[in-house]
Amino acid sequence: MIPIAEPVFDEEELNNVIKAVKTGWISSKGEFVEEFEHNFAEYIGVKYGVATMNGTAALHLALNALNIEKGDEVLVPDLSFIATANSVKYCNAKPIFVDSHPDYWCIDPDKIEDLVSSKTKAIIPVHIYGHPCDMDPILDISKEKNLFIIEDAAEAHGTRYKNRMVGTFGEISCYSFFANKIITTGEGGMCLTDNEELYEKMKISRDHGMNPDKRYWHDFVGFNYRMTNLQAAVGVAQLKKIDKFIERKRLIANWYKKGLQELEEQGYIGLHPELPWAKSIFWMYSILINKNCKITRDQFIEKLKENGIDSRPFFYPAHVLPMYEFYSKNLKNAEDISSKGINLPTSPILEKNQIDFIIKTIKEIINI
Ligand SMILES: Cc1ncc(COP(=O)(O)O)c(C=O)c1O
Repeated sequence: MIPIAEPVFDEEELNNVIKAVKTGWISSKGEFVEEFEHNFAEYIGVKYGVATMNGTAALHLALNALNIEKGDEVLVPDLSFIATANSVKYCNAKPIFVDSHPDYWCIDPDKIEDLVSSKTKAIIPVHIYGHPCDMDPILDISKEKNLFIIEDAAEAHGTRYKNRMVGTFGEISCYSFFANKIITTGEGGMCLTDNEELYEKMKISRDHGMNPDKRYWHDFVGFNYRMTNLQAAVGVAQLKKIDKFIERKRLIANWYKKGLQELEEQGYIGLHPELPWAKSIFWMYSILINKNCKITRDQFIEKLKENGIDSRPFFYPAHVLPMYEFYSKNLKNAEDISSKGINLPTSPILEKNQIDFIIKTIKEIINI
């Protein structure tokens, strides 16, 4: 089976983990955590990093630091991994779902303004599948309406918008280092911010709200969202390879694009977009199965599997899930993209002959 994603390690991850184990620093104290925070923040171009146990915790920590609470509304894309909407619910606030842009699948800035109410406090743009959101109009609306921006960059480490790194636009940006992400720490996440006050608050909240100058004195209800030194040991080594991983994913995307272009021209599939202002990292190269293919998207996934190729359907739009059903409103693009989308194998270690095999299989499935 060609897997959809695979972590890529060398000796350095192993040596760092051995070092953490040998020194006994296996929980959240130890040199790797701060090193990883510092290096990752520097890579993205933001002042401060707060490492967390996963990306979902990072989103919750960020919303909490911005005092999002009961009665507040937060605009989130309908089409995202569920953690984006759930993190808003963890604050007892209400996620308001925004439709996708049909051309690049991220939140549609033109659909935002009508959904802003007196209760709206923040927007969470998600750079979905590695493609950046159109940040300029989102920034304009956030300034005009006085809304915070928390970028969910869980799938977009190193993605650029108009040549600027995503993760540098909002008050806080959040990342995931799950095993299928561009770089991984097994489970893991991080909040980045340029704001010292938010940085301090997130650091303290992550550690049970404990006063850094007075042990076991807790000024407010915090969380245990800390990253371990073992995780960070892996992260420090992974970060050194991030540019190579991105370069390779972009090359793989290019192979897919060239090989599948004729199917797109004939209207059978949609290709993973990259708009002129975007530099995507193609976290997972994806295609849309159009209606004129003789088989459904789910049958397509089955056929790929029969041929030893792993793939994933796109996320369901949040508003169709049981806990968010009642929020549903005209979200047609998200529904359409979600129902057609497939993520294809995009591990940086894949070779050209494997991508050629996947392309050939796709052509056979479509039967041209
Ligand atoms: C867009 C998005 N946001 C948040 C998360 C949550 O990250 P984690 O799985 O590390 O909790 C993910 C993870 O896959 C994601 O894709």
